[in-house]
Amino acid sequence: MSTLSVLQYPHKGLREVAPLITVFDDGLRQKVKEMFDTMYQDNGVGLAATQVGLALRLYVMDASPHQNQPLCLINPEVIAAVGEVESEEGCLSFPGVYAKVIRAREVTVQYQDEYGNSHTLTADGLMANCIQHELDHLNGVLFIDHLSKLKRERLLKKLEKIKRVA
Ligand code: NI
Repeated sequence: MSTLSVLQYPHKGLREVAPLITVFDDGLRQKVKEMFDTMYQDNGVGLAATQVGLALRLYVMDASPHQNQPLCLINPEVIAAVGEVESEEGCLSFPGVYAKVIRAREVTVQYQDEYGNSHTLTADGLMANCIQHELDHLNGVLFIDHLSKLKRERLLKKLEKIKRVA
């Protein structure tokens, strides 16, 4: 098993916009495998390529209760979004802090798998949340960007405290 190191906020790499993937080769599939290993090792629900310093428009996720339904979304695009829901989110780039974020309740996403085949998926609950959170990462957007200034400052203060203790 080979894992990657996850960039921690405020690393500048987290603000990069990931370019579209056009080559679906063994090298890409190896990176995907390493991203899954990293996500599972860190007990994450999702991990975007920008979080591990890779300029690739992809993320891996597994929102299943037993972490046995791996999903890799390449060049994802949300084509429909319904409703609104507020739920608590965390992020591997912000270990130990959580915040409530408002997102679409249900989304339909179009994406390619690691062989270049196209798929469409409609999801709600944790999966919908994760799809949106990770897609944000590919655009250099972080979950704290969705918070009010006051809540963001409070969360970042808490993060600093956690880092000092660690
Ligand atoms: Ni995240």
